[in-house]
Amino acid sequence: MTDSILKVDNISLAFGGVKALTDVSFEVPRGAVFSIIGPNGAGKTSMLNCISGRYRPNSGRIQFNDRDVTHLRPNDRADMGIGRTFQNLALFGHMSVLDNIMVGRHHLMKNNWLTGPLYWASPAQKEELAHRREVEEIIDFLDITHVRKAVAGTLSYGLRKRVELARAMALKPKLILLDEPMAGMNLEEKEDMARYILDLNEEFGITVVMIEHDMGVVMDISHEVMVLDFGKKLISGLPLDVMNDEHVKRAYLGLEEDEVMQEAG
Ligand SMILES: Nc1ncnc2c1ncn2[C@@H]1O[C@H](COP(=O)(O)OP(=O)(O)OP(=O)(O)O)[C@@H](O)[C@H]1O
Ligand SMILES: [Mg+2]
Repeated sequence: MTDSILKVDNISLAFGGVKALTDVSFEVPRGAVFSIIGPNGAGKTSMLNCISGRYRPNSGRIQFNDRDVTHLRPNDRADMGIGRTFQNLALFGHMSVLDNIMVGRHHLMKNNWLTGPLYWASPAQKEELAHRREVEEIIDFLDITHVRKAVAGTLSYGLRKRVELARAMALKPKLILLDEPMAGMNLEEKEDMARYILDLNEEFGITVVMIEHDMGVVMDISHEVMVLDFGKKLISGLPLDVMNDEHVKRAYLGLEEDEVMQEAG
């Protein structure tokens, strides 16, 4: 029996008449890099939002570390160790890189560093120093030391994505949900990001659930891949098996029947 950090059972979600997800079930093994792929509108982001608590599914159940989290609020799930980044960047553009990352840290602190007076009290100060040290480790890990004091909004897109990842990591997640972490990046930035994702998985032991359109990256770094199509699960399994599945080739990779036949032959 594999040890699953996340179990998703029969999740369905509709917006009015639009069925974003229909009866989707899957499990994510602890320690895995698990990728979700599928065409635009397939329900990938909706699935991540159900896991993070941003969306409430109409039916089904989500278990994290064997606890039913289906009805917990996003903050409670974050406290339990579910971190995330967004498809569209969600940084505070006017704040420094360091402060953006400290926001991710916020919920771990007993003394809220954002509430002024407490900051100057000695225990709070010590706590903040300890937090800063851990945050500096993450900054170092993601090679963003040189921009730590920069205003986030002034950075290149690739760097901002990395800062967003740092903020998610600052929450000390056991599971991290990444919605298209490499979208809009050039090749070099993509390669860097792929390496950081692998390293945070291997060195920090964080389980990764990632939505990504770049098949090269998906094939390279995933232990398991799931394909969504029109809100339904088409297949999940080892990357190569999924890519070689004829339904996937037809539905997702857009190959015609004869091309599938040729490849099979
Ligand atoms: N908040 C919402 N309100 C209404 N409809 C929504 C909402 N979120 C998602 N949908 C709809 O649900 C369906 C699935 O959308 P979703 O964003 O999950 O797809 P996706 O697979 O992430 O697509 P993409 O690759 O374009 O990011 C789409 O038809 C979308 O329009
Ligand atoms: Mg999406």
